Amino acid sequence: MTTNRGVVYVSAGKVKVRDIGYPELVLRDGPGVNPLNVGRKCEHGVILKVITTNICGSDQHMVRGRTTAPSGLVLGHEITGEVIETGRDVEFIQKGDIVSVPFNIACGRCRNCKRQDTHICENVNPDRPGSAYGYVDMGGWVGGQSEYVMVPYADFQLLKFPDKEQAMEKILDLTMLSDIFPTGYHGAVNAGVRPGVTVYVAGAGPVGLAAAHSAQLLGASVVIVGDLIEERLAQARSFGCETINLREHINIGEQIEQILGVPEVDCAIDAVGFEASGHGEGAVEAPATVLNTVMNITRAGGRLGIPGLYVTGDPGGIDEEAKEGTLKIRFGLGWAKAHTFVTGQTPVMKYHRDLMMAILSEKAQIAKAVNATVISLDEAPAGYQEFDGGASKKFVIDPHRLVKS
Ligand SMILES: NC(=O)c1ccc[n+]([C@@H]2O[C@H](COP(=O)([O-])OP(=O)(O)OC[C@H]3O[C@@H](n4cnc5c(N)ncnc54)[C@H](O)[C@@H]3O)[C@@H](O)[C@H]2O)c1
Ligand SMILES: [Zn+2]
Ligand SMILES: [Zn+2]
Repeated sequence: MTTNRGVVYVSAGKVKVRDIGYPELVLRDGPGVNPLNVGRKCEHGVILKVITTNICGSDQHMVRGRTTAPSGLVLGHEITGEVIETGRDVEFIQKGDIVSVPFNIACGRCRNCKRQDTHICENVNPDRPGSAYGYVDMGGWVGGQSEYVMVPYADFQLLKFPDKEQAMEKILDLTMLSDIFPTGYHGAVNAGVRPGVTVYVAGAGPVGLAAAHSAQLLGASVVIVGDLIEERLAQARSFGCETINLREHINIGEQIEQILGVPEVDCAIDAVGFEASGHGEGAVEAPATVLNTVMNITRAGGRLGIPGLYVTGDPGGIDEEAKEGTLKIRFGLGWAKAHTFVTGQTPVMKYHRDLMMAILSEKAQIAKAVNATVISLDEAPAGYQEFDGGASKKFVIDPHRLVKS
């Protein structure tokens, strides 16, 4: 077993499945690997046989050429797998365990990790706090849209599923624990969702749908989802959300008033990020749209959860300012309304165990909410294309054909 195949970013709009080399318990040089991370020993790590690995909207930013991701970068930060080898320093995780990998790599030893802020670990990315597998500017940890992958800091990071047979039964739900379920939930928690409140979720992609489902789990009275893609809005309605089609309606406040009787919501979640479109027929990219919208329609004192991703460098930005992540946000409005903003990567480990229990006890139906759709590794390039076209599917790559249909 010395071969390995994985999904590799080639150039804007193009990914390929290629031989990528079998993983070792050391980070070798390769496309996107930070020079200071080359040769880093990972005896605290494990090798996983990948069971499922999902395609994410965050991957799409790179694949659309909207980041400085280098050609040859192995993609994939949403990983679930079986442990097949453990490093010398791994004490508790064992061969044969089926585990969920939090997409943020974290040492467990720094000041931020000690506070459960594993999304801004100080020791895994020489450039800045925070890291992830298969992602530009995140240290160069090799991605897991592949047959096998190395996962460092295994004892600290991995969430072991209690029963293997049960795990394989529920694998399409459990696979969402590596990112989007905690991410949607984090968005909802930080927006202050609690029993009875009304919520607006911008974006009906997988993260928006996960946020909407999370808001329901937390007891929201009405969840309103906005997007420009009707198929995605239909998916949101399939589990009880209200929807607003932003291609047809420019004035969200009016639409909210028709649903709630008042033109504002108690809290809002941005599940779109910097590639946001304006509203209306023929709308073009307008990166600050969602941030300005959520300030407009959230009541004074409300909280705004912002899992949608914003960047510090965007070669495809609409103007010189957007190219360096400077956006035209009406911050005075948010200030006047005393809004609270919560941004950043999701600290997955804060939530993944509890959400696993919600799945295993059938309180949560996340795979259904996001329309989990299984594909093979070779179908990944087609999956990327279909997802980019706006399909209402969360693509789950099954590299070893282990998932029962
Ligand atoms: N914070 C984190 O840790 C984290 C984790 C995962 C994903 N993300 C980010 O969350 C965002 C969503 O991810 P996804 O996988 O659902 O992506 P996605 O691209 O599938 O979904 C984004 C959706 O937003 C819609 N949209 C565009 N402009 C809009 C607007 N003005 N109002 C409402 N909807 C609009 C699009 O039509 C699309 O359906 C991405 O930016 C992704 O990078 C962040
Ligand atoms: Zn993701
Ligand atoms: Zn750390």
